[in-house]
Amino acid sequence: MQETLSLSYRRIVLIGFRGSGKTTVAKELAWKLGWEYVSTDDLIEARIQTSISEFVEKKGWQSFRRQETAVIAELREKKNAVIDCGGGVVEYPQNMAYLERNALIVWVDAALSDIVMRLQNDSSRPLLNQPDLVQDIEYNYRRREPLYRGYGQIYVNTSEERLTVICRRITEKLLS
Ligand code: S3P
Repeated sequence: MQETLSLSYRRIVLIGFRGSGKTTVAKELAWKLGWEYVSTDDLIEARIQTSISEFVEKKGWQSFRRQETAVIAELREKKNAVIDCGGGVVEYPQNMAYLERNALIVWVDAALSDIVMRLQNDSSRPLLNQPDLVQDIEYNYRRREPLYRGYGQIYVNTSEERLTVICRRITEKLLS
Protein backbone atom coordinates (compact mmCIF):
# COMPACT_ATOMS: atom_id res chain seq x y z
CA MET A 1 0.00 0.00 0.00
CA GLN A 2 2.80 2.41 0.94
CA GLU A 3 4.25 2.58 -2.60
CA THR A 4 0.91 3.46 -4.17
CA LEU A 5 0.02 6.29 -1.81
CA SER A 6 -0.44 9.75 -3.20
CA LEU A 7 2.56 11.88 -2.32
CA SER A 8 0.43 14.72 -1.03
CA TYR A 9 -0.32 12.86 2.22
CA ARG A 10 2.46 11.21 4.18
CA ARG A 11 0.50 10.72 7.38
CA ILE A 12 -2.98 10.79 8.84
CA VAL A 13 -3.88 12.96 11.81
CA LEU A 14 -7.05 12.29 13.77
CA ILE A 15 -8.71 15.13 15.61
CA GLY A 16 -12.02 15.21 17.45
CA PHE A 17 -13.59 15.41 20.87
CA ARG A 18 -12.60 13.01 23.65
CA GLY A 19 -14.71 9.89 23.47
CA SER A 20 -15.44 10.31 19.77
CA GLY A 21 -13.59 7.10 18.85
CA LYS A 22 -10.30 8.47 17.48
CA THR A 23 -8.20 5.71 19.01
CA THR A 24 -10.29 2.87 17.58
CA VAL A 25 -10.22 4.42 14.10
CA ALA A 26 -6.50 5.27 14.31
CA LYS A 27 -5.46 1.75 15.35
CA GLU A 28 -7.53 0.12 12.63
CA LEU A 29 -6.17 2.50 9.98
CA ALA A 30 -2.58 1.98 11.09
CA TRP A 31 -3.07 -1.78 10.91
CA LYS A 32 -4.69 -1.61 7.47
CA LEU A 33 -2.02 0.68 6.02
CA GLY A 34 0.95 -0.93 7.76
CA TRP A 35 1.74 2.47 9.24
CA GLU A 36 2.84 3.29 12.76
CA TYR A 37 0.15 4.14 15.33
CA VAL A 38 1.16 7.19 17.36
CA SER A 39 -0.83 8.55 20.29
CA THR A 40 0.08 12.03 21.49
CA ASP A 41 -1.43 11.22 24.89
CA ASP A 42 0.84 8.15 25.24
CA LEU A 43 3.88 10.22 24.27
CA ILE A 44 2.94 12.89 26.80
CA GLU A 45 2.56 10.28 29.54
CA ALA A 46 5.97 8.82 28.68
CA ARG A 47 7.45 12.32 28.87
CA ILE A 48 5.80 13.39 32.14
CA GLN A 49 6.30 9.95 33.72
CA THR A 50 2.82 9.91 35.22
CA SER A 51 -0.80 9.76 34.08
CA ILE A 52 -2.41 12.79 32.44
CA SER A 53 -5.02 12.99 35.20
CA GLU A 54 -2.39 13.04 37.96
CA PHE A 55 -0.30 15.57 36.08
CA VAL A 56 -3.28 17.88 35.51
CA GLU A 57 -4.33 17.57 39.13
CA LYS A 58 -0.88 18.64 40.32
CA LYS A 59 0.22 21.09 37.64
CA GLY A 60 -2.92 22.24 35.85
CA TRP A 61 -4.10 22.28 32.26
CA GLN A 62 -1.70 24.97 31.07
CA SER A 63 1.31 22.85 31.97
CA PHE A 64 -0.30 19.90 30.24
CA ARG A 65 -0.82 21.98 27.08
CA ARG A 66 2.86 22.93 27.05
CA GLN A 67 3.82 19.25 27.20
CA GLU A 68 1.36 18.50 24.42
CA THR A 69 2.83 21.15 22.13
CA ALA A 70 6.38 19.90 22.83
CA VAL A 71 5.38 16.36 21.86
CA ILE A 72 3.63 17.54 18.71
CA ALA A 73 6.62 19.64 17.68
CA GLU A 74 8.70 16.45 17.76
CA LEU A 75 6.22 14.76 15.42
CA ARG A 76 6.37 17.44 12.74
CA GLU A 77 8.50 15.35 10.37
CA LYS A 78 6.86 12.01 11.23
CA LYS A 79 5.84 10.02 8.16
CA ASN A 80 3.94 6.80 7.47
CA ALA A 81 2.07 7.20 10.72
CA VAL A 82 -1.48 7.56 11.97
CA ILE A 83 -1.39 10.21 14.68
CA ASP A 84 -4.11 9.98 17.32
CA CYS A 85 -4.37 13.43 18.95
CA GLY A 86 -5.89 14.52 22.25
CA GLY A 87 -9.18 16.36 21.91
CA GLY A 88 -7.71 19.74 22.84
CA VAL A 89 -5.03 19.81 20.17
CA VAL A 90 -7.06 22.16 17.95
CA GLU A 91 -7.08 24.89 20.59
CA TYR A 92 -3.53 25.93 19.76
CA PRO A 93 -2.82 26.98 16.15
CA GLN A 94 0.86 26.13 16.57
CA ASN A 95 -0.06 22.48 17.22
CA MET A 96 -2.05 22.36 14.03
CA ALA A 97 0.70 24.07 12.03
CA TYR A 98 3.04 21.23 13.04
CA LEU A 99 0.45 18.54 12.43
CA GLU A 100 -0.87 19.77 9.10
CA ARG A 101 2.42 19.23 7.24
CA ASN A 102 1.82 16.59 4.56
CA ALA A 103 -1.12 15.27 6.55
CA LEU A 104 -4.65 14.22 5.85
CA ILE A 105 -6.58 15.64 8.80
CA VAL A 106 -9.58 13.56 9.79
CA TRP A 107 -12.29 14.91 12.10
CA VAL A 108 -13.65 11.95 14.05
CA ASP A 109 -17.03 12.84 15.51
CA ALA A 110 -19.82 11.04 17.39
CA ALA A 111 -23.26 11.80 18.82
CA LEU A 112 -23.04 13.75 22.09
CA SER A 113 -25.09 11.04 23.80
CA ASP A 114 -22.47 8.44 22.82
CA ILE A 115 -19.63 10.70 23.95
CA VAL A 116 -21.32 11.13 27.35
CA MET A 117 -21.84 7.38 27.63
CA ARG A 118 -18.23 6.58 26.72
CA LEU A 119 -16.78 9.12 29.17
CA GLN A 120 -19.10 8.37 32.07
CA ASN A 121 -17.02 5.56 33.51
CA ASP A 122 -13.64 6.91 32.53
CA SER A 123 -11.55 8.53 35.23
CA SER A 124 -8.53 8.89 32.96
CA ARG A 125 -9.86 12.13 31.45
CA PRO A 126 -10.17 14.88 34.03
CA LEU A 127 -12.89 17.49 33.48
CA LEU A 128 -11.71 20.44 31.40
CA ASN A 129 -13.38 23.44 33.02
CA GLN A 130 -16.98 22.71 34.03
CA PRO A 131 -18.32 21.28 37.29
CA ASP A 132 -19.93 18.14 35.90
CA LEU A 133 -19.33 15.75 33.04
CA VAL A 134 -22.36 16.55 30.88
CA GLN A 135 -21.84 20.31 31.18
CA ASP A 136 -18.14 19.86 30.52
CA ILE A 137 -18.80 17.88 27.36
CA GLU A 138 -21.56 20.16 26.05
CA TYR A 139 -19.71 23.40 26.73
CA ASN A 140 -16.38 22.30 25.32
CA TYR A 141 -17.81 20.37 22.39
CA ARG A 142 -19.69 23.49 21.23
CA ARG A 143 -16.63 25.64 21.71
CA ARG A 144 -14.37 23.28 19.77
CA GLU A 145 -16.73 22.14 17.06
CA PRO A 146 -15.92 25.05 14.67
CA LEU A 147 -12.22 24.30 15.11
CA TYR A 148 -12.63 20.60 14.29
CA ARG A 149 -14.77 21.58 11.30
CA GLY A 150 -12.22 24.13 10.13
CA TYR A 151 -9.20 21.83 10.32
CA GLY A 152 -10.83 18.56 9.23
CA GLN A 153 -10.37 17.63 5.58
CA ILE A 154 -12.65 14.64 5.93
CA TYR A 155 -15.47 14.03 8.43
CA VAL A 156 -16.35 10.65 9.90
CA ASN A 157 -18.91 9.82 12.56
CA THR A 158 -18.50 6.72 14.73
CA SER A 159 -22.15 6.83 15.84
CA GLU A 160 -23.41 6.67 12.27
CA GLU A 161 -20.87 4.66 10.30
CA ARG A 162 -19.24 1.29 10.74
CA LEU A 163 -15.51 1.15 11.38
CA THR A 164 -14.82 -0.61 8.07
CA VAL A 165 -16.73 2.06 6.13
CA ILE A 166 -14.93 4.85 7.99
CA CYS A 167 -11.52 3.34 7.24
CA ARG A 168 -12.40 2.74 3.60
CA ARG A 169 -13.52 6.35 3.15
CA ILE A 170 -10.32 7.63 4.73
CA THR A 171 -8.00 5.41 2.68
CA GLU A 172 -9.89 6.36 -0.50
CA LYS A 173 -9.32 10.01 0.29
CA LEU A 174 -5.67 9.24 0.94
CA LEU A 175 -5.32 7.76 -2.52
CA SER A 176 -7.39 10.36 -4.35
C1 S3P B 1 -8.13 16.29 26.26
C2 S3P B 1 -8.34 15.06 25.71
C3 S3P B 1 -7.55 13.87 26.06
C4 S3P B 1 -6.21 14.25 26.67
C5 S3P B 1 -6.39 15.25 27.76
C6 S3P B 1 -7.05 16.53 27.25
C7 S3P B 1 -8.99 17.43 25.85
O1 S3P B 1 -7.34 13.05 24.92
O2 S3P B 1 -5.35 14.78 25.69
O3 S3P B 1 -7.17 14.66 28.76
O4 S3P B 1 -8.57 18.59 26.03
O5 S3P B 1 -10.07 17.18 25.32
P1 S3P B 1 -8.51 12.20 24.21
O6 S3P B 1 -9.22 13.10 23.25
O7 S3P B 1 -7.75 11.12 23.52
O8 S3P B 1 -9.38 11.70 25.29
